[in-house]
Amino acid sequence: MDDVLVVHGGAPLHGEIRVRGAKNLVSKAMVAALLGEAESRLHDVPSIRDVEVVRGLLELHGVRVSEGPAGELVFDPANVERANVDEINVHAGSSRIPILFCGPLLHRIGHAFIPDLGGCRIGDRPIDFHLSALREFGAHVEKSPEGLHLTAPDGLRGSKFTLPYPSVGATEQVLLTAVRAEGVTELRNAAVEPEIIDLICVLQKMGAIISVHTDRVIRIEGVPHLTGYQHRPLPDRLEVASWACAALATHGDVYVRNAQQVDMMTFLNVFRSVGGAFEVDDSHTGSGGIRFWHPGGELSAVALETDVHPGLMTDWQQPLVVALTQARGLSIVHETVYEQRLGFTDALVKMGATIQLYRECLGSTPCRFGQRNFLHSAVISGPSKLHGAELEIPDLRGGFSHFLAALAAEGTSRIHGVDLINRGYEDFEAKLAALGARVEHA
Ligand code: EPU
Repeated sequence: MDDVLVVHGGAPLHGEIRVRGAKNLVSKAMVAALLGEAESRLHDVPSIRDVEVVRGLLELHGVRVSEGPAGELVFDPANVERANVDEINVHAGSSRIPILFCGPLLHRIGHAFIPDLGGCRIGDRPIDFHLSALREFGAHVEKSPEGLHLTAPDGLRGSKFTLPYPSVGATEQVLLTAVRAEGVTELRNAAVEPEIIDLICVLQKMGAIISVHTDRVIRIEGVPHLTGYQHRPLPDRLEVASWACAALATHGDVYVRNAQQVDMMTFLNVFRSVGGAFEVDDSHTGSGGIRFWHPGGELSAVALETDVHPGLMTDWQQPLVVALTQARGLSIVHETVYEQRLGFTDALVKMGATIQLYRECLGSTPCRFGQRNFLHSAVISGPSKLHGAELEIPDLRGGFSHFLAALAAEGTSRIHGVDLINRGYEDFEAKLAALGARVEHA
């Protein structure tokens, strides 16, 4: 497939697009279907690469997956079986989700093989929290050159753990393992992102007993059997923010159907502080949405820090940075979730932005990276006139931001490695076309 797109910048984006279920819930809900003894049905699933990878892995393990109307996927886990290591390894390096198959496969067939993981290169992305939690449950983990082999000769038992950091993936690992482990699990310092709460809703529909307490404590009472679920996922708030920033950076006006205010309040506050306008449309029953636009005048510089929920999401940072290149004054960004999530700014500098990266913590949110020599803070001086350039997509969110910058820039950009965007943005090119972007294949 042609992996290079040519973007003619300078045209404001105008129009309407719709987002589907959140990538970072849908893929986990698909894994949860493995735990049930009856069919599960997930609505409004986006057609993206991460979904294809998880579907492929489920099918290798004997889950029958079929498609219904309007993005519906149906999972029949009646005949879960061991899969061939070579066949699983075809998916090596393509996504981080396979690590979440550990608990469900141990419960269903007593063995799990996990290939080398992939995902975006935005930091070291270790899996130490996952493995120590699995060992606490009683799993044996053996590392081999081709991946991880897990067994649970004495079954899986609930336990008490405290995560060193509220990791989304490790919290999901514990949930997907504890629901069918013997006894009670108490997880402290858990992540409580809306996607996690939605996964808890999925598991509750399946028969799990999970309570979320104050101060990041989640308590799970293991049950011996789970059934299927029927679920409509929360909308993709990461994608919504990407299009919102596209409207702001290009002086445009974009209505994002299916966007929901409740899980985006922190983003909306920043969007408004920068000078963006939005209007929540929830007057009708049904999907509704949010309209985002540039109201004219100058954008304002802001200081922001990414953090775990309810803080500003790390995935909202990159599109916001593009908008901040157009704001008057000095903006400051402190990235506290991933140590290397500012690398994408190199391309913006090449396009004319003034951005300086720092190893120091430029903010007061407690951070693991200040002492460790990572360039994880940025100062952006604006407004800058951006011009077209030759760009290479570094990772999913950074890559979308390169597009944004190219759309906001004067002149033509050539963007390589575009296929990476399809990992997380459904119908990316069609949506750009619907908003009037001037984009063509090289
Ligand atoms: N961490 C560890 N050890 C672990 C696990 C995590 O040190 O065993 C560290 C990470 O290195 C990172 C921090 O903990 O510094 C947070 O990582 P987390 O586990 O929360 O992230 P994740 O589960 O790998 C998910 C999303 C990311 C999103 C983050 C934060 C999925 C598939 N990915 O990643 O989304 O940025 O949570 O909200 O759900 C994206 O969609 O493009 C994306 C990268």
